[in-house]
Amino acid sequence: MKTNRRPFVAGNWKLHMTLAESAALARKLKAGLARPHEAEVGVAPVATSLHVVSQALEGSGIVVAAQNMHWEDRGAYTGEISAPLLLDAGASHVILGHSERRHVFGEQDEGIRKKLAAALGHGLVPILCVGEQLSDREGGRTTDVVLGQLDAAVDGLEAEPLQTLVIAYEPVWAIGTGRTASPADAQEVHAQIRARLATRFDGRLAESLRILYGGSVKPANAAELLARPDVDGALVGGASLEADTFLPIVEAAG
Ligand code: 13P
Repeated sequence: MKTNRRPFVAGNWKLHMTLAESAALARKLKAGLARPHEAEVGVAPVATSLHVVSQALEGSGIVVAAQNMHWEDRGAYTGEISAPLLLDAGASHVILGHSERRHVFGEQDEGIRKKLAAALGHGLVPILCVGEQLSDREGGRTTDVVLGQLDAAVDGLEAEPLQTLVIAYEPVWAIGTGRTASPADAQEVHAQIRARLATRFDGRLAESLRILYGGSVKPANAAELLARPDVDGALVGGASLEADTFLPIVEAAG
């Protein structure tokens, strides 16, 4: 094993699958992962399927993540779901600041910061997504954008509550496009994220946190990406919708 960090492979199901389809895929994954595997595995179904998926996965060790949440616990916030309700539905993790939330739904850094603090406060494991757009990469702004998103999200937080944080580097231009960052490009950004965590908090925290790569991860490219020293797992979109394409990615993680 390359580090003490346990690999983490999570499937982001986005806006796909009914209750029955979600439960069926969860059961397939549970059966497929009955063999020993090193990686921690998670799935993020749509909110309406969180409960059935968590029930279907009981006893499997596969964790269940929500795809978003609101920072307030309750109140006049039509259409929102809070951390206590996600926990009530069986989620232990939550994806925050996904690029589709940022760029399709206009989420801003400040809201993501509040969500991160609320998730940690309630004991949900946050999977914080950061990533640059193609114009940022072509303009040489990748580091500024990615570290800027990271800094904004953890602003005001101490190292102690961040022990569970998972970060996902997802270059926007690689999501759903079939274009993947090269393993070397991914490694470079992951190392920059870890270095920033070390200077902002401390080296021990930086060394312990897992940084996942996301963006067109497939069975064919997973092993190469996951072999890089700072790539601690994957956040998988399209290839997580079928057991036949998701399970080989879990296997590639060890
Ligand atoms: P794809 O794997 O479909 O590119 O999606 C990546 C992603 O956005 C995971 O959160």
